[in-house]
Amino acid sequence: MSELHTPQAGDDMARDDDVVALLMRQHGDIRNLFDEVEASTGEERRDAFRRLVRLLAVHETAEEEVVHPFARKGFPGGEQVVKDRLAEEKAAKETLAGLDEMDTDDPKFMPRLLRLRQDVQAHARAEERYEFTHIRRSTDVTGLAAMAKAIKAAEAMAPTRPHPGVESGAKNMALGPVAALMDRTKDTVRKAMGK
Ligand SMILES: [Fe+2]
Ligand SMILES: [Fe+2]
Repeated sequence: MSELHTPQAGDDMARDDDVVALLMRQHGDIRNLFDEVEASTGEERRDAFRRLVRLLAVHETAEEEVVHPFARKGFPGGEQVVKDRLAEEKAAKETLAGLDEMDTDDPKFMPRLLRLRQDVQAHARAEERYEFTHIRRSTDVTGLAAMAKAIKAAEAMAPTRPHPGVESGAKNMALGPVAALMDRTKDTVRKAMGK
């Protein structure tokens, strides 16, 4: 079915078959989760932050496994574009790791979160402008769909909606180790790509 499908603008099927549309949707989900963390307090903030950390970890890892390797060879200047994006991702991951150890009620949490948000958004804009547009021009529908499949497999590991019944028991809401999640994401993505 899906190989017969012609992508149309605003078409949900097309979005799911197009790695660029999918990653841009995740950029939007990340923005929304930053909003949610900022607008909430206590347990709700903890839960929203946990979902943000998961999505960021899964999103950046999947990009590093799927689209950056393609972009590196896919268009002229791709090598440098990817080098710049990786440097931004490394910086964001370091800030994220620092935040990850902090309680969301800590007075230092919000200023750091806002710094992370600025970095993450500047990075997302740079990806969309310097990398994704070229990816779209340099690959066909089949290529976009193959990469989308791997991104979707990874996405299943990062629920963006709130947990049903955000309960007490802050300890249970503690973040799982981000490094372990990144490793699992790599495995999932590689399997989806048949590696
Ligand atoms: Fe990225
Ligand atoms: Fe991204």
